Amino acid sequence: MEIISDYLVIGSGIAGLSFALQAAKTGRVAVVTKKEKTEGSTNYAQGGIASVFDRDDSFDLHIEDTLKSGDGLCHEDIVRLVVEEGPERIKELISMGVYFSRQERDGETLDLGREGGHSRRRIVHTKDLTGREVERILLDRVEENPNIRIYENHMAIDLITKSKLIRRGIIASETSETCWGAYVLDVKQGQIITFLAKITVMSTGGAGKVYRYTSNPDIATGDGVAIGYRAGAKIANMEFVQFHPTCLYHPLAKSFLISEAVRGEGGVLLDKKGDSFMEKYHPLKDLAFRDIVARSIDMELKKSGDECVYLDISHRDPAFITERFPHIFETCLKFQVDITKEPIPVVPAAHYMCGGLLTDKYGKTSLDNLYAIGEAACTGLHGANRLASNSLLEALVFARRAALRSAEEMGDKMDKALPSAPQWDPGSATDSEETVVVSHNWDEIRSFMWNYVGIVRTNKRLARASTRVENIQKEIREYYWDFLVTQDLLELRNIALVAQLIIACASLRKESRGLHFNLDYPSKDNIHWLQDTVMWI
Ligand code: FAD
Ligand code: SIN
Repeated sequence: MEIISDYLVIGSGIAGLSFALQAAKTGRVAVVTKKEKTEGSTNYAQGGIASVFDRDDSFDLHIEDTLKSGDGLCHEDIVRLVVEEGPERIKELISMGVYFSRQERDGETLDLGREGGHSRRRIVHTKDLTGREVERILLDRVEENPNIRIYENHMAIDLITKSKLIRRGIIASETSETCWGAYVLDVKQGQIITFLAKITVMSTGGAGKVYRYTSNPDIATGDGVAIGYRAGAKIANMEFVQFHPTCLYHPLAKSFLISEAVRGEGGVLLDKKGDSFMEKYHPLKDLAFRDIVARSIDMELKKSGDECVYLDISHRDPAFITERFPHIFETCLKFQVDITKEPIPVVPAAHYMCGGLLTDKYGKTSLDNLYAIGEAACTGLHGANRLASNSLLEALVFARRAALRSAEEMGDKMDKALPSAPQWDPGSATDSEETVVVSHNWDEIRSFMWNYVGIVRTNKRLARASTRVENIQKEIREYYWDFLVTQDLLELRNIALVAQLIIACASLRKESRGLHFNLDYPSKDNIHWLQDTVMWI
Protein backbone atom coordinates (compact mmCIF):
# COMPACT_ATOMS: atom_id res chain seq x y z
CA MET A 1 0.00 0.00 0.00
CA GLU A 2 1.21 3.51 -0.82
CA ILE A 3 0.14 6.90 0.57
CA ILE A 4 1.30 10.11 -1.09
CA SER A 5 1.33 13.59 0.47
CA ASP A 6 3.31 16.79 0.14
CA TYR A 7 4.54 16.66 3.73
CA LEU A 8 5.07 13.60 5.91
CA VAL A 9 5.26 14.50 9.60
CA ILE A 10 6.50 11.77 11.94
CA GLY A 11 5.20 12.46 15.45
CA SER A 12 2.22 14.31 16.93
CA GLY A 13 3.73 16.30 19.80
CA ILE A 14 4.09 20.08 19.96
CA ALA A 15 6.72 20.07 17.19
CA GLY A 16 4.91 17.86 14.67
CA LEU A 17 1.47 19.39 15.18
CA SER A 18 2.76 22.98 15.04
CA PHE A 19 4.59 22.17 11.82
CA ALA A 20 1.53 20.46 10.33
CA LEU A 21 -0.72 23.46 10.99
CA GLN A 22 1.64 25.85 9.24
CA ALA A 23 2.50 23.46 6.37
CA ALA A 24 -1.18 22.73 5.66
CA LYS A 25 -1.40 26.27 4.25
CA THR A 26 0.70 25.10 1.28
CA GLY A 27 0.06 21.38 0.84
CA ARG A 28 -1.40 18.08 2.03
CA VAL A 29 0.04 16.79 5.30
CA ALA A 30 0.14 13.21 6.60
CA VAL A 31 0.98 12.90 10.31
CA VAL A 32 1.99 9.42 11.46
CA THR A 33 2.19 8.75 15.18
CA LYS A 34 3.11 5.46 16.75
CA LYS A 35 0.49 5.27 19.51
CA GLU A 36 -2.56 7.36 20.38
CA LYS A 37 -2.18 10.89 19.02
CA THR A 38 -1.82 12.54 22.46
CA GLU A 39 0.92 10.19 23.64
CA GLY A 40 4.23 12.05 23.74
CA SER A 41 6.32 14.08 26.18
CA THR A 42 4.41 17.22 25.25
CA ASN A 43 1.29 15.91 26.94
CA TYR A 44 3.19 15.45 30.23
CA ALA A 45 5.01 18.81 30.26
CA GLN A 46 4.42 20.50 33.60
CA GLY A 47 6.52 23.62 34.22
CA GLY A 48 5.72 25.56 31.05
CA ILE A 49 7.30 27.59 28.26
CA ALA A 50 10.11 30.06 28.92
CA SER A 51 9.68 33.45 27.28
CA VAL A 52 10.14 37.12 27.98
CA PHE A 53 6.90 38.81 29.08
CA ASP A 54 7.79 40.59 32.32
CA ARG A 55 8.71 44.28 32.42
CA ASP A 56 11.76 43.43 34.55
CA ASP A 57 12.94 40.85 32.04
CA SER A 58 14.69 41.24 28.68
CA PHE A 59 15.76 39.16 25.69
CA ASP A 60 19.36 39.73 26.75
CA LEU A 61 18.74 38.22 30.19
CA HIS A 62 17.00 35.15 28.75
CA ILE A 63 19.87 34.76 26.27
CA GLU A 64 22.44 35.12 29.04
CA ASP A 65 20.74 32.47 31.21
CA THR A 66 20.49 30.05 28.27
CA LEU A 67 24.17 30.53 27.39
CA LYS A 68 25.27 30.03 31.01
CA SER A 69 23.23 26.85 31.27
CA GLY A 70 24.64 25.51 27.98
CA ASP A 71 28.17 25.75 29.44
CA GLY A 72 29.93 27.09 26.36
CA LEU A 73 28.31 24.98 23.64
CA CYS A 74 25.16 26.95 22.75
CA HIS A 75 25.14 28.57 19.32
CA GLU A 76 24.55 32.20 20.20
CA ASP A 77 22.79 33.08 16.93
CA ILE A 78 20.30 30.25 17.49
CA VAL A 79 19.76 31.25 21.13
CA ARG A 80 19.00 34.80 20.06
CA LEU A 81 16.53 33.88 17.36
CA VAL A 82 14.66 31.41 19.60
CA VAL A 83 14.44 33.86 22.49
CA GLU A 84 13.37 36.76 20.27
CA GLU A 85 10.70 34.78 18.38
CA GLY A 86 9.35 33.27 21.62
CA PRO A 87 6.69 35.81 22.64
CA GLU A 88 5.12 35.76 19.15
CA ARG A 89 4.83 31.97 19.17
CA ILE A 90 3.18 32.05 22.59
CA LYS A 91 0.74 34.72 21.49
CA GLU A 92 -0.13 32.48 18.52
CA LEU A 93 -0.91 29.61 20.89
CA ILE A 94 -3.16 31.93 22.87
CA SER A 95 -4.94 33.01 19.70
CA MET A 96 -5.52 29.34 18.82
CA GLY A 97 -7.28 28.90 22.18
CA VAL A 98 -4.58 27.79 24.63
CA TYR A 99 -5.35 29.02 28.16
CA PHE A 100 -2.31 30.04 30.22
CA SER A 101 -2.62 30.84 33.95
CA ARG A 102 -3.20 34.53 34.77
CA GLN A 103 -2.36 36.60 37.81
CA GLU A 104 -5.10 36.74 40.42
CA ARG A 105 -4.90 40.53 40.81
CA ASP A 106 -6.30 41.35 37.33
CA GLY A 107 -7.11 37.95 35.79
CA GLU A 108 -5.32 39.06 32.63
CA THR A 109 -1.58 39.40 33.12
CA LEU A 110 0.22 36.11 32.49
CA ASP A 111 1.30 34.39 35.70
CA LEU A 112 4.99 33.70 35.20
CA GLY A 113 6.71 30.84 37.00
CA ARG A 114 10.37 30.46 37.87
CA GLU A 115 12.68 27.48 37.35
CA GLY A 116 16.35 26.59 37.83
CA GLY A 117 18.90 28.83 36.10
CA HIS A 118 16.38 31.55 35.19
CA SER A 119 17.30 34.94 36.62
CA ARG A 120 13.71 36.18 36.21
CA ARG A 121 10.16 34.84 36.37
CA ARG A 122 9.46 33.91 32.75
CA ILE A 123 7.72 30.53 32.58
CA VAL A 124 4.31 30.78 30.92
CA HIS A 125 2.23 27.88 32.26
CA THR A 126 -1.20 26.33 32.72
CA LYS A 127 -0.96 25.47 36.42
CA ASP A 128 1.20 22.30 36.34
CA LEU A 129 -0.48 20.83 33.25
CA THR A 130 0.94 23.08 30.53
CA GLY A 131 1.67 20.33 28.01
CA ARG A 132 -1.78 18.79 28.22
CA GLU A 133 -3.43 22.13 27.46
CA VAL A 134 -1.12 22.90 24.52
CA GLU A 135 -1.48 19.39 23.03
CA ARG A 136 -5.28 19.50 23.38
CA ILE A 137 -5.65 22.77 21.50
CA LEU A 138 -3.11 21.91 18.79
CA LEU A 139 -4.93 18.62 18.17
CA ASP A 140 -8.29 20.42 18.00
CA ARG A 141 -6.93 22.79 15.35
CA VAL A 142 -5.29 19.95 13.40
CA GLU A 143 -8.43 17.84 13.42
CA GLU A 144 -10.55 20.61 11.95
CA ASN A 145 -8.04 21.18 9.13
CA PRO A 146 -9.04 19.38 5.91
CA ASN A 147 -5.44 19.38 4.64
CA ILE A 148 -4.12 17.29 7.53
CA ARG A 149 -4.70 13.60 8.21
CA ILE A 150 -3.41 11.87 11.35
CA TYR A 151 -2.58 8.15 11.25
CA GLU A 152 -2.53 6.78 14.82
CA ASN A 153 -0.68 3.55 15.67
CA HIS A 154 1.56 4.03 12.66
CA MET A 155 5.25 3.71 13.43
CA ALA A 156 7.97 4.93 11.05
CA ILE A 157 10.59 2.22 10.46
CA ASP A 158 13.11 3.70 8.05
CA LEU A 159 13.38 6.52 5.55
CA ILE A 160 13.03 6.05 1.84
CA THR A 161 16.23 7.57 0.53
CA LYS A 162 17.86 8.06 -2.81
CA SER A 163 20.63 5.55 -2.06
CA LYS A 164 18.02 2.89 -1.38
CA LEU A 165 16.33 3.66 -4.68
CA ILE A 166 19.67 3.76 -6.50
CA ARG A 167 20.62 0.38 -5.02
CA ARG A 168 17.40 -1.01 -6.44
CA GLY A 169 18.01 0.61 -9.83
CA ILE A 170 14.97 2.92 -9.53
CA ILE A 171 16.72 6.26 -9.97
CA ALA A 172 20.12 7.29 -11.27
CA SER A 173 22.91 8.36 -8.92
CA GLU A 174 23.33 12.04 -8.12
CA THR A 175 25.50 13.60 -5.45
CA SER A 176 23.48 14.52 -2.36
CA GLU A 177 21.41 12.10 -0.30
CA THR A 178 17.68 12.82 -0.50
CA CYS A 179 14.68 11.64 1.51
CA TRP A 180 11.37 10.76 -0.17
CA GLY A 181 9.27 9.63 2.80
CA ALA A 182 9.29 6.58 5.04
CA TYR A 183 8.27 2.96 5.43
CA VAL A 184 5.70 2.87 8.22
CA LEU A 185 4.33 -0.06 10.24
CA ASP A 186 0.56 -0.01 10.69
CA VAL A 187 0.81 -1.49 14.18
CA LYS A 188 -2.78 -2.74 14.42
CA GLN A 189 -2.87 -4.39 10.96
CA GLY A 190 0.76 -5.58 11.03
CA GLN A 191 1.15 -4.14 7.53
CA ILE A 192 3.97 -1.94 6.19
CA ILE A 193 2.91 1.12 4.20
CA THR A 194 5.04 3.22 1.86
CA PHE A 195 4.46 6.90 2.74
CA LEU A 196 5.88 9.03 -0.08
CA ALA A 197 6.37 12.77 0.44
CA LYS A 198 8.34 15.67 -0.97
CA ILE A 199 9.25 16.86 2.54
CA THR A 200 9.66 14.60 5.57
CA VAL A 201 9.76 15.97 9.12
CA MET A 202 11.21 14.06 12.04
CA SER A 203 9.39 15.19 15.18
CA THR A 204 9.66 11.97 17.17
CA GLY A 205 10.66 13.43 20.54
CA GLY A 206 13.30 12.18 22.97
CA ALA A 207 14.97 8.96 24.12
CA GLY A 208 14.46 8.70 27.88
CA LYS A 209 13.55 5.02 27.57
CA VAL A 210 17.20 4.25 26.83
CA TYR A 211 17.61 4.53 30.63
CA ARG A 212 16.08 2.36 33.34
CA TYR A 213 14.58 5.33 35.19
CA THR A 214 13.02 8.13 33.16
CA SER A 215 10.36 10.81 33.40
CA ASN A 216 9.51 10.13 29.74
CA PRO A 217 6.49 8.27 28.36
CA ASP A 218 6.98 4.91 26.60
CA ILE A 219 7.13 6.42 23.11
CA ALA A 220 10.51 8.06 23.91
CA THR A 221 12.79 5.51 22.25
CA GLY A 222 14.85 7.91 20.15
CA ASP A 223 13.36 6.62 16.89
CA GLY A 224 14.00 9.81 14.92
CA VAL A 225 17.69 9.88 15.74
CA ALA A 226 18.10 6.19 14.96
CA ILE A 227 16.11 6.36 11.71
CA GLY A 228 17.89 9.51 10.54
CA TYR A 229 21.34 8.21 11.45
CA ARG A 230 20.74 4.92 9.61
CA ALA A 231 19.82 6.96 6.53
CA GLY A 232 23.08 8.93 6.71
CA ALA A 233 21.97 12.13 8.48
CA LYS A 234 24.41 13.84 10.84
CA ILE A 235 23.70 13.62 14.57
CA ALA A 236 25.29 15.73 17.32
CA ASN A 237 25.91 16.00 21.06
CA MET A 238 24.29 12.74 22.13
CA GLU A 239 26.47 12.62 25.27
CA PHE A 240 24.40 15.41 26.81
CA VAL A 241 21.55 13.51 28.43
CA GLN A 242 19.66 15.63 30.93
CA PHE A 243 18.59 14.02 34.20
CA HIS A 244 15.73 15.77 35.94
CA PRO A 245 16.67 16.14 39.63
CA THR A 246 13.23 15.48 41.09
CA CYS A 247 11.07 12.50 40.16
CA LEU A 248 8.81 10.89 42.72
CA TYR A 249 10.56 8.00 44.48
CA HIS A 250 7.96 5.27 44.72
CA PRO A 251 8.04 1.74 43.25
CA LEU A 252 4.73 2.26 41.43
CA ALA A 253 5.08 5.90 40.36
CA LYS A 254 7.10 5.28 37.13
CA SER A 255 9.39 8.26 37.90
CA PHE A 256 6.52 10.77 37.97
CA LEU A 257 7.98 14.26 37.54
CA ILE A 258 7.87 16.82 40.34
CA SER A 259 8.22 20.05 38.39
CA GLU A 260 11.15 22.37 38.93
CA ALA A 261 8.47 25.03 39.33
CA VAL A 262 7.97 23.59 42.85
CA ARG A 263 11.47 24.77 43.70
CA GLY A 264 10.66 28.01 41.84
CA GLU A 265 7.89 28.58 44.39
CA GLY A 266 10.15 27.94 47.39
CA GLY A 267 10.54 24.13 47.50
CA VAL A 268 13.77 23.08 49.22
CA LEU A 269 15.80 19.89 48.79
CA LEU A 270 16.53 18.09 52.05
CA ASP A 271 18.48 15.02 53.09
CA LYS A 272 17.01 12.24 55.22
CA LYS A 273 17.82 14.16 58.42
CA GLY A 274 15.85 17.16 57.14
CA ASP A 275 18.90 19.33 56.39
CA SER A 276 19.09 21.38 53.19
CA PHE A 277 22.24 20.70 51.15
CA MET A 278 22.20 22.67 47.88
CA GLU A 279 23.98 25.65 49.49
CA LYS A 280 27.10 23.43 49.63
CA TYR A 281 27.10 23.06 45.85
CA HIS A 282 26.03 26.34 44.20
CA PRO A 283 25.18 29.95 45.16
CA LEU A 284 21.79 29.59 43.40
CA LYS A 285 21.09 26.67 45.77
CA ASP A 286 17.88 24.81 44.84
CA LEU A 287 17.50 26.92 41.71
CA ALA A 288 20.94 26.14 40.30
CA PHE A 289 21.20 24.76 36.75
CA ARG A 290 19.70 21.32 36.36
CA ASP A 291 22.96 19.44 35.71
CA ILE A 292 24.36 20.80 38.97
CA VAL A 293 21.30 19.94 41.06
CA ALA A 294 21.09 16.39 39.63
CA ARG A 295 24.81 15.81 40.26
CA SER A 296 24.57 17.20 43.79
CA ILE A 297 21.72 14.82 44.61
CA ASP A 298 23.72 11.94 43.12
CA MET A 299 26.67 12.87 45.36
CA GLU A 300 24.49 13.16 48.46
CA LEU A 301 22.96 9.74 47.78
CA LYS A 302 26.34 8.12 47.16
CA LYS A 303 27.74 9.65 50.37
CA SER A 304 24.80 8.74 52.58
CA GLY A 305 23.78 5.43 50.98
CA ASP A 306 20.17 6.66 51.17
CA GLU A 307 17.71 5.77 48.43
CA CYS A 308 16.26 9.23 47.90
CA VAL A 309 16.36 12.85 49.00
CA TYR A 310 13.30 14.99 49.81
CA LEU A 311 11.68 18.06 48.30
CA ASP A 312 9.75 20.17 50.78
CA ILE A 313 7.14 22.80 49.86
CA SER A 314 4.94 22.17 52.91
CA HIS A 315 5.86 25.56 54.44
CA ARG A 316 3.71 27.27 51.75
CA ASP A 317 -0.02 27.85 52.26
CA PRO A 318 -1.90 24.60 51.39
CA ALA A 319 -4.44 26.59 49.33
CA PHE A 320 -1.60 28.00 47.21
CA ILE A 321 -0.03 24.56 46.73
CA THR A 322 -3.23 22.85 45.59
CA GLU A 323 -4.17 25.74 43.29
CA ARG A 324 -0.71 26.08 41.68
CA PHE A 325 0.20 22.36 41.53
CA PRO A 326 -3.11 20.43 41.39
CA HIS A 327 -1.74 17.56 39.29
CA ILE A 328 1.38 17.04 41.41
CA PHE A 329 -0.69 17.29 44.60
CA GLU A 330 -3.24 14.71 43.44
CA THR A 331 -0.71 12.29 41.99
CA CYS A 332 1.47 12.34 45.11
CA LEU A 333 -1.61 11.86 47.28
CA LYS A 334 -2.41 8.66 45.34
CA PHE A 335 0.98 7.43 46.53
CA GLN A 336 0.22 8.46 50.14
CA VAL A 337 2.34 11.64 50.08
CA ASP A 338 0.48 14.80 51.09
CA ILE A 339 2.73 17.55 49.73
CA THR A 340 0.95 20.23 51.76
CA LYS A 341 2.08 18.46 54.96
CA GLU A 342 5.27 16.50 54.26
CA PRO A 343 8.40 16.43 52.08
CA ILE A 344 8.25 14.46 48.80
CA PRO A 345 10.76 11.59 48.35
CA VAL A 346 12.59 12.29 45.06
CA VAL A 347 15.39 10.92 42.86
CA PRO A 348 16.85 12.01 39.51
CA ALA A 349 15.76 10.29 36.28
CA ALA A 350 16.63 10.60 32.57
CA HIS A 351 14.55 13.43 31.19
CA TYR A 352 15.74 15.16 28.03
CA MET A 353 18.00 14.53 25.04
CA CYS A 354 20.01 17.67 24.27
CA GLY A 355 21.58 16.04 21.22
CA GLY A 356 19.77 14.83 18.13
CA LEU A 357 19.66 15.18 14.37
CA LEU A 358 21.89 18.11 13.51
CA THR A 359 19.96 20.94 11.86
CA ASP A 360 20.54 24.42 10.51
CA LYS A 361 18.57 27.46 11.63
CA TYR A 362 15.54 26.31 9.59
CA GLY A 363 15.43 22.80 11.02
CA LYS A 364 16.99 21.27 7.89
CA THR A 365 19.08 18.16 8.47
CA SER A 366 22.08 17.13 6.38
CA LEU A 367 19.78 15.09 4.07
CA ASP A 368 17.84 16.87 1.33
CA ASN A 369 14.07 17.04 1.99
CA LEU A 370 14.49 15.93 5.63
CA TYR A 371 13.78 18.30 8.52
CA ALA A 372 14.05 17.62 12.26
CA ILE A 373 12.29 19.65 14.95
CA GLY A 374 11.53 19.42 18.67
CA GLU A 375 13.46 17.11 20.96
CA ALA A 376 14.64 14.93 18.04
CA ALA A 377 16.73 17.82 16.73
CA CYS A 378 20.01 19.37 17.79
CA THR A 379 19.66 23.00 16.76
CA GLY A 380 22.43 24.52 18.87
CA LEU A 381 20.03 26.09 21.40
CA HIS A 382 20.75 23.89 24.41
CA GLY A 383 24.51 23.34 24.22
CA ALA A 384 25.75 21.06 26.98
CA ASN A 385 22.72 21.52 29.27
CA ARG A 386 19.22 22.73 28.37
CA LEU A 387 17.81 25.59 30.39
CA ALA A 388 14.48 24.59 31.98
CA SER A 389 11.36 25.15 29.84
CA ASN A 390 13.36 26.10 26.74
CA SER A 391 12.29 22.90 25.00
CA LEU A 392 8.65 23.62 24.22
CA LEU A 393 9.81 27.06 23.14
CA GLU A 394 12.40 25.62 20.74
CA ALA A 395 9.81 23.24 19.26
CA LEU A 396 7.39 26.10 18.56
CA VAL A 397 10.01 28.36 17.03
CA PHE A 398 11.61 25.71 14.83
CA ALA A 399 8.31 24.15 13.72
CA ARG A 400 7.34 27.46 12.16
CA ARG A 401 10.76 28.18 10.68
CA ALA A 402 10.91 24.68 9.17
CA ALA A 403 7.39 24.97 7.75
CA LEU A 404 8.12 28.33 6.12
CA ARG A 405 11.41 27.14 4.65
CA SER A 406 10.03 23.83 3.42
CA ALA A 407 7.07 25.64 1.79
CA GLU A 408 9.66 27.57 -0.25
CA GLU A 409 11.36 24.28 -1.13
CA MET A 410 7.98 22.80 -1.95
CA GLY A 411 7.46 25.61 -4.47
CA ASP A 412 10.65 24.49 -6.24
CA LYS A 413 9.59 20.85 -6.12
CA MET A 414 5.95 21.19 -7.15
CA ASP A 415 6.61 20.04 -10.70
CA LYS A 416 9.00 17.27 -9.81
CA ALA A 417 7.19 13.95 -9.53
CA LEU A 418 8.03 11.70 -6.58
CA PRO A 419 10.03 8.62 -7.54
CA SER A 420 8.11 5.38 -7.31
CA ALA A 421 9.44 3.44 -4.34
CA PRO A 422 9.33 -0.34 -4.03
CA GLN A 423 7.02 -1.91 -1.45
CA TRP A 424 8.69 -3.06 1.76
CA ASP A 425 10.33 -6.44 1.20
CA PRO A 426 9.94 -8.77 4.21
CA GLY A 427 12.30 -11.36 2.58
CA SER A 428 11.97 -14.73 4.27
CA ALA A 429 10.99 -13.26 7.65
CA THR A 430 8.55 -15.25 9.77
CA ASP A 431 6.54 -14.55 12.92
CA SER A 432 8.75 -14.73 15.99
CA GLU A 433 7.78 -16.65 19.07
CA GLU A 434 10.86 -15.58 20.97
CA THR A 435 9.76 -12.19 22.27
CA VAL A 436 11.73 -12.99 25.41
CA VAL A 437 14.91 -12.15 23.47
CA VAL A 438 13.56 -8.67 22.77
CA SER A 439 12.54 -7.98 26.36
CA HIS A 440 15.79 -9.36 27.76
CA ASN A 441 17.93 -7.13 25.51
CA TRP A 442 15.66 -4.17 26.21
CA ASP A 443 16.16 -4.57 30.00
CA GLU A 444 19.89 -5.11 29.64
CA ILE A 445 20.43 -1.92 27.61
CA ARG A 446 18.42 0.19 30.03
CA SER A 447 20.32 -1.22 33.03
CA PHE A 448 23.85 -0.75 31.75
CA MET A 449 23.00 2.72 30.41
CA TRP A 450 21.76 3.66 33.88
CA ASN A 451 24.74 2.13 35.69
CA TYR A 452 27.58 3.04 33.31
CA VAL A 453 26.46 6.02 31.21
CA GLY A 454 24.42 7.98 33.77
CA ILE A 455 25.00 11.18 35.71
CA VAL A 456 28.64 10.32 36.48
CA ARG A 457 30.77 8.41 33.95
CA THR A 458 34.29 6.96 33.79
CA ASN A 459 36.36 5.64 30.90
CA LYS A 460 36.08 2.11 32.25
CA ARG A 461 32.29 2.25 32.58
CA LEU A 462 31.96 3.68 29.06
CA ALA A 463 34.19 0.93 27.64
CA ARG A 464 32.08 -1.72 29.39
CA ALA A 465 28.87 -0.23 28.08
CA SER A 466 30.36 -0.07 24.60
CA THR A 467 31.21 -3.80 24.54
CA ARG A 468 27.75 -4.70 25.84
CA VAL A 469 25.90 -2.61 23.28
CA GLU A 470 27.96 -3.96 20.39
CA ASN A 471 27.06 -7.55 21.32
CA ILE A 472 23.40 -6.66 21.55
CA GLN A 473 23.53 -4.83 18.22
CA LYS A 474 24.93 -7.97 16.59
CA GLU A 475 22.15 -10.08 18.02
CA ILE A 476 19.48 -7.59 16.95
CA ARG A 477 20.83 -7.43 13.40
CA GLU A 478 20.43 -11.21 13.06
CA TYR A 479 17.04 -11.21 14.74
CA TYR A 480 15.74 -8.24 12.78
CA TRP A 481 16.21 -9.85 9.38
CA ASP A 482 14.91 -13.25 10.43
CA PHE A 483 11.59 -12.18 11.92
CA LEU A 484 8.68 -10.04 10.85
CA VAL A 485 9.00 -6.57 12.37
CA THR A 486 6.93 -5.65 15.40
CA GLN A 487 6.79 -2.39 17.33
CA ASP A 488 8.82 -3.92 20.19
CA LEU A 489 11.54 -5.15 17.88
CA LEU A 490 11.75 -1.81 16.05
CA GLU A 491 11.99 0.08 19.33
CA LEU A 492 14.69 -2.28 20.60
CA ARG A 493 16.67 -1.72 17.40
CA ASN A 494 16.33 2.04 17.93
CA ILE A 495 17.22 2.20 21.64
CA ALA A 496 20.26 0.00 20.97
CA LEU A 497 21.50 2.37 18.28
CA VAL A 498 20.76 5.48 20.34
CA ALA A 499 22.58 3.92 23.33
CA GLN A 500 25.52 3.23 21.07
CA LEU A 501 25.56 6.84 19.86
CA ILE A 502 25.37 8.20 23.43
CA ILE A 503 28.28 5.97 24.47
CA ALA A 504 30.29 6.87 21.35
CA CYS A 505 29.81 10.63 21.82
CA ALA A 506 30.53 10.36 25.58
CA SER A 507 33.71 8.37 24.91
CA LEU A 508 34.96 10.95 22.42
CA ARG A 509 34.55 13.93 24.75
CA LYS A 510 37.60 13.87 27.00
CA GLU A 511 36.50 16.54 29.47
CA SER A 512 33.56 17.30 31.78
CA ARG A 513 31.07 19.91 30.62
CA GLY A 514 27.42 20.53 31.36
CA LEU A 515 25.58 17.22 31.54
CA HIS A 516 28.62 15.13 30.60
CA PHE A 517 30.68 14.40 33.72
CA ASN A 518 33.60 11.95 33.45
CA LEU A 519 35.61 11.29 36.63
CA ASP A 520 38.71 10.57 34.49
CA TYR A 521 38.55 14.11 33.03
CA PRO A 522 36.81 16.12 35.77
CA SER A 523 37.59 19.57 34.29
CA LYS A 524 36.42 21.56 31.34
CA ASP A 525 38.87 21.78 28.42
CA ASN A 526 38.05 24.86 26.35
CA ILE A 527 41.10 24.43 24.18
CA HIS A 528 40.14 21.09 22.65
CA TRP A 529 36.45 20.55 23.40
CA LEU A 530 34.63 23.82 22.84
CA GLN A 531 32.82 22.15 19.95
CA ASP A 532 29.86 19.91 19.15
CA THR A 533 30.34 16.17 18.84
CA VAL A 534 29.12 15.35 15.34
CA MET A 535 28.77 11.86 13.84
CA TRP A 536 27.37 10.26 10.74
CA ILE A 537 27.67 6.94 8.94
P1 FAD B 1 6.89 14.57 21.79
O1 FAD B 1 5.90 15.46 22.39
O2 FAD B 1 7.54 13.57 22.66
O3 FAD B 1 6.17 13.80 20.61
C1 FAD B 1 6.83 12.79 19.88
C2 FAD B 1 5.83 12.16 18.95
O4 FAD B 1 6.51 11.28 18.05
C3 FAD B 1 4.80 11.28 19.66
O5 FAD B 1 3.56 11.52 19.02
C4 FAD B 1 5.27 9.86 19.36
O6 FAD B 1 4.27 8.88 19.37
C5 FAD B 1 5.83 10.04 17.98
N1 FAD B 1 6.80 9.04 17.54
C6 FAD B 1 7.97 8.69 18.12
N2 FAD B 1 8.59 7.76 17.37
C7 FAD B 1 7.79 7.52 16.30
C8 FAD B 1 7.88 6.66 15.16
N3 FAD B 1 8.91 5.83 14.97
N4 FAD B 1 6.87 6.66 14.26
C9 FAD B 1 5.79 7.47 14.43
N5 FAD B 1 5.64 8.31 15.50
C10 FAD B 1 6.65 8.33 16.40
N6 FAD B 1 9.85 21.03 28.35
C11 FAD B 1 9.57 22.32 28.56
O7 FAD B 1 10.01 23.19 27.79
N7 FAD B 1 8.77 22.69 29.60
C12 FAD B 1 8.24 21.79 30.47
O8 FAD B 1 7.51 22.15 31.37
C13 FAD B 1 8.55 20.41 30.28
N8 FAD B 1 8.08 19.48 31.14
C14 FAD B 1 8.30 18.16 30.87
C15 FAD B 1 7.75 17.19 31.69
C16 FAD B 1 7.90 15.85 31.39
C17 FAD B 1 7.30 14.80 32.29
C18 FAD B 1 8.64 15.47 30.25
C19 FAD B 1 8.83 14.01 29.91
C20 FAD B 1 9.24 16.42 29.44
C21 FAD B 1 9.07 17.77 29.75
N9 FAD B 1 9.63 18.76 28.94
C22 FAD B 1 9.35 20.07 29.17
C23 FAD B 1 10.29 18.41 27.69
C24 FAD B 1 9.28 18.59 26.55
O9 FAD B 1 8.01 18.17 27.00
C25 FAD B 1 9.64 17.79 25.33
O10 FAD B 1 10.98 18.03 24.97
C26 FAD B 1 8.74 18.22 24.15
O11 FAD B 1 7.39 18.05 24.51
C27 FAD B 1 9.07 17.39 22.94
O12 FAD B 1 8.12 17.66 21.97
P2 FAD B 1 8.20 16.88 20.60
O13 FAD B 1 7.06 17.32 19.77
O14 FAD B 1 9.57 17.00 20.05
O15 FAD B 1 8.05 15.34 21.02
C1 SIN C 1 9.65 20.77 34.90
O1 SIN C 1 8.48 21.15 34.99
O2 SIN C 1 10.43 20.68 35.84
C2 SIN C 1 10.15 20.37 33.54
C3 SIN C 1 10.60 21.55 32.83
C4 SIN C 1 11.49 21.16 31.70
O3 SIN C 1 11.87 20.01 31.54
O4 SIN C 1 11.85 22.07 30.96
